[in-house]
Amino acid sequence: MNDPKSIIYLDNAATSWPKPPGVVEAIERNVRENAANPGRGSHEMAVKASRVLFDARKRLARLFGIGNPNDIAFALNTTHALNLAIQGLLKPGDHVIATSLEHNSVRRPIEAMKRRFGIEATFIAADEQGNLNVKDVEAAITPRTRLIAASHSSNLLGSIAPIADLGELARRRGARFLVDAAQSAGVLSIDVEAMGIDLLAFPGHKGLLGPQGTGGLYIHPDLDLEPLMHGGTGSKSEAPEQPTVRPDRYEAGTQNTPGIAGLSEGVQFVLRETTKAIHDKERQLTFELMEGLLGIEGVRILGPQIGVERTAIVSFTIEGIDPSEMAFLLDRQFGIAVRAGFHCTPLGHETAGTYETGAVRASPGYFTDKSDIVSMIDAVREIVGTMGRRN
Ligand SMILES: Cc1ncc(COP(=O)(O)O)c(C=O)c1O
Repeated sequence: MNDPKSIIYLDNAATSWPKPPGVVEAIERNVRENAANPGRGSHEMAVKASRVLFDARKRLARLFGIGNPNDIAFALNTTHALNLAIQGLLKPGDHVIATSLEHNSVRRPIEAMKRRFGIEATFIAADEQGNLNVKDVEAAITPRTRLIAASHSSNLLGSIAPIADLGELARRRGARFLVDAAQSAGVLSIDVEAMGIDLLAFPGHKGLLGPQGTGGLYIHPDLDLEPLMHGGTGSKSEAPEQPTVRPDRYEAGTQNTPGIAGLSEGVQFVLRETTKAIHDKERQLTFELMEGLLGIEGVRILGPQIGVERTAIVSFTIEGIDPSEMAFLLDRQFGIAVRAGFHCTPLGHETAGTYETGAVRASPGYFTDKSDIVSMIDAVREIVGTMGRRN
C-alpha cells in the first residue's frame, strides 16, 4: 500500500487532498469542545455549535457575493444540493434547458423529473472543446422554460461555461438559472448577483478544501423551493409543516457540524489566498502537464487547447492503451493517483468523442508541486514506452 506521504495526488477534481492547515484541527476541536446540537438548545454549547454553522455561512456568502448568509442551505455534497434545486423548483409542465457537459448529478435528477412528472428537457450540445454557444441556449427557450442549468466547469474537459452571459439570458427571458459549481467553487471567481445566478450548488470537499460530507445550495431570496426533506429543524416545532424561515426550511435534521467547522476553515483559507492566486497556480501546473503529455506519442488531450482558460482538469487518451490500465499502472508502479473511466458524464464523453473509450483524468490542486507534474509526465512516458514494446 502507498504511504500517503509519498502519494502524488492528482485526483483533486473528485475530492481535494491534502487539506490546508487548520481544517483537520477545526473538525477535531468541534468534536471535542462544541459537540452539542446546533439550533436545538439554548445552552452555551448548543449556541457555540450554531455559531460554527453561521460563521461558515458568512464566509461562504463573502466568497460568492451573497447578501444574506441564511440564503445558503448546507447539503451533503453537490449532488444533494443539485437535487434540492432541481426537484424543489420544477413542476409538471415545466421545461428545463441544460447542456451536453452536465454531470449525472444534474442529468439524472432531470431525467427522473421527466419520468415522474412529465417535465421536458433540452440538452444543448457544446462543441468538442467544450464551447457552449449562448445563442443555441436562447433558441431553445420556450414560454414554459422555467430553468436553465449549466455546470460552471466541465469535470471531463475543464472547459469553462459563459456563466455571466447565461445568467443575463435567463434574467432577460424570465427563467431561473442554476449553476453547478462542483469544479469552480474556490477556484473561479463567482458572484451570484453580478452573474445572475438564482441557484448555486457547490461542494465543500473539492475547491473549498473542506471534508467530504459537506456542500451547499445558495437559493435566491425571492425563490421558494419545495424542500427535499421534511423534519425537525429546532424551530416552529408546533407546526405540522416545514417552516418557511431560512435556512431551516431546507435543513431538516441535525447538520454535519464537525464537517462544516472544517469547511469553514477551508473557505477561510480560500478567502485569504484568493481564488485568483489559486487559479493562477493551478492554471500554470495544468498547462505544464498538458505540454508534457502532448510530447508523448499517441496522447490526445480533451477539451480546450493549451493557453485557453480552463480549470485544473487534464483528461486524455493514449492510442492503444486502455485508460483504466494506465490509471492502474500509475497507481501501482508510481504511486500516482488519477481517475479513469467515464467520470459520471456520458453526455460529456459523447461530446468529446470518447464514449467508447473513457479517459484518464489528472487533476492537480493548489498543493500540487511542479515536481509532481514532472513525475506524472515521466511515468506516462515510461508506461507508454513499456506497453509500446509489449504490443
Ligand atoms: C461537475 C460536477 N457536478 C457534480 C458533481 C457531484 O459532486 P459531489 O460528489 O459533491 O456530489 C461532480 C463531482 O465530481 C462534478 O464534477
